[in-house]
Amino acid sequence: MNIISKLAIAASLATALTSVAIAQDNLSGLVVGFSQIGSESGWRAAETSVTKQQAEERGIDLKFADAQQKQENQIKAIRGFIAQGVDAILVAPVVATGWEDVLAEAKEAEIPVMLLDRGVDAPEDLYLTSVASDQVLEGRTAGEWLVNEVGDADCKIVELQGTVGSTPAINRKQGFEEAIAGHANLTIARSQTGDFTRAKGKEVMEGFIKAENGGADICAVYAHNDDMAVGAIQAIKDAGLKPGTDIKVVSIDGVPDIFAAMVAGEANATVELTPNMAGPAFDALSAYLADGTEPEKFIITESKLYTPADNPQGEYDTRKGLGY
Ligand code: AHR
Repeated sequence: MNIISKLAIAASLATALTSVAIAQDNLSGLVVGFSQIGSESGWRAAETSVTKQQAEERGIDLKFADAQQKQENQIKAIRGFIAQGVDAILVAPVVATGWEDVLAEAKEAEIPVMLLDRGVDAPEDLYLTSVASDQVLEGRTAGEWLVNEVGDADCKIVELQGTVGSTPAINRKQGFEEAIAGHANLTIARSQTGDFTRAKGKEVMEGFIKAENGGADICAVYAHNDDMAVGAIQAIKDAGLKPGTDIKVVSIDGVPDIFAAMVAGEANATVELTPNMAGPAFDALSAYLADGTEPEKFIITESKLYTPADNPQGEYDTRKGLGY
């Protein structure tokens, strides 16, 4: 490459970086309300701390409201943000339905709303963008892993569902069922909500073990998140069985504790969900405020499968400082 081309590339890179910097600067000093679901899981705690960090890096004044798992608290918080006249609102919606009125109020007040990690059943024009994973794909990835893992062997599966009515619970169930459909040797014997928490995951798994011959009839547990899987691992150990060997464990999130369980041979697979939903949301907001650029309505984050072959100790070390 000659010097002219090198200079041209350097100049265009500098221009690109400057426009990113300018775009990011337009968020500095803004007030953004964040209605978070609560702290049901390690993943949720990480999302909260990453969101606060992303806001701080951009000079945003983030008003944080913890809804303690209740939609009514989220609606109240959003109305409070509207009354305060915030510049934008982030919401991680606990369930899919019941948002239309409050989102319409935010729209009426000309406050852009960005959804994080879960979807809503509401007209798309009521929010600026939704940053989330493809949750059907997450379930399908977990299911395909199990299909390959068991081959032709019979496999009775127990399923720990997420919060009833939430999009990840609905979609991760659907995706997993799609993956095992057509494989008659894999059946879901029992399925119940563990509300995305470690304690309920353990409690429900204890019930499954009792109902399934002390756990001897269970081949695998599919948990809609890692925290419930970690609770299930404890229940399996308490029943005198070996998680990861006697009962396979597959789940979703990629939190440090599931990588620690993989290192110990007690978990078999997880599908990663990034806790950085706020970064892409703030970037979308920045471009929108700069020149009215309409972001993609659905910004989809990556879903990557991890197994013990993927250096779980290294993955644990990389994640442990992220606020999980
Ligand atoms: O909406 C994302 C899900 O919510 C995460 O998988 C789970 O851990 C959290 O509680």
